[in-house]
Amino acid sequence: MNMMLSEHESLAFISGRRSVFPKELEDEEVNRDEIMRLLEAARWAPTHKVTEPWRFVVVQGEALTEFRDIIEKVIIEKGLGKDPIEEKIACTFSKLDRVSALIAIVMKRDDRERIPEEEEQWATACAVQNVQLHAKSLSIGCYWSTGAGREHSTVRSFLGLAETDFHMGWLFIGRYSAEKRLIKERRPVSDYTKWL
Ligand SMILES: Cc1cc2nc3c(=O)[nH]c(=O)nc-3n(C[C@H](O)[C@H](O)[C@H](O)COP(=O)(O)O)c2cc1C
Repeated sequence: MNMMLSEHESLAFISGRRSVFPKELEDEEVNRDEIMRLLEAARWAPTHKVTEPWRFVVVQGEALTEFRDIIEKVIIEKGLGKDPIEEKIACTFSKLDRVSALIAIVMKRDDRERIPEEEEQWATACAVQNVQLHAKSLSIGCYWSTGAGREHSTVRSFLGLAETDFHMGWLFIGRYSAEKRLIKERRPVSDYTKWL
C-alpha cells in the first residue's frame, strides 16, 4: 500500500510527536506484541549500503527488576555529581517503576566496516525516530534517554553487548494515550537554513 499523506497531514503527524516522560505514563502495561509492532517501524529507516545497523534489547519483567539492582550499584559506584546518591537512586527507581519496558538502542558495527562508524550511528538514530513517530499510533509513550549507565561495563554485559556495539541510550516505554502540548515553541525554518 502506497498511502499518500497531504503536506498538512504529514507535517501535523511529525510535529505532533512528543516525548512522554515516565511520570506521565498511565498504569496499563504495553505488551510484547505491541513492542514488536512498535519496533517494526525501525526496519524502514535509511541506511547506507543497507547495513541496517540498529539493534534493540528489550528489558522488561524480571529483567527490569534485575536492571534496577544493577543500576543502583552503578550509581553508588560512580557517585554521580552534585545530588546525594540516595536522591539519584530514588529518582532513577521512580522512572523504572513507571515503565513497561526499557529498550536499549544499539548500533551494531558492520562486519566489513564498509561504512564510517558515525554513519551507522546516524542510521540508528533515524530508526529510533521512526519508532518514536510510530509510537503514538499504538498509544505508546516513549522518550529517548542517554542516562542510566549507558557506558558502564556491567550494564553492557547485562545487555550482552559486543565490544564494538555502540550503546546509544534507552527508550523508556509505557502506555500513554492523551494529547501532549508542545512546551517550547520551535525555531522557524528560516532560522536554521542558509541559502547559497
Ligand atoms: C539523542 C537524544 C538524547 C536524549 N537524552 C535525554 C535524556 O537523557 N534525558 C531527557 O530527559 N531527555 C532526553 N532526550 C529527550 C529530549 O528531552 C526531548 O526530545 C526534548 O525535551 C524535546 O521534546 P520532544 O521530544 O517532545 O520534542 C533525548 C533526546 C535525544 C534525541
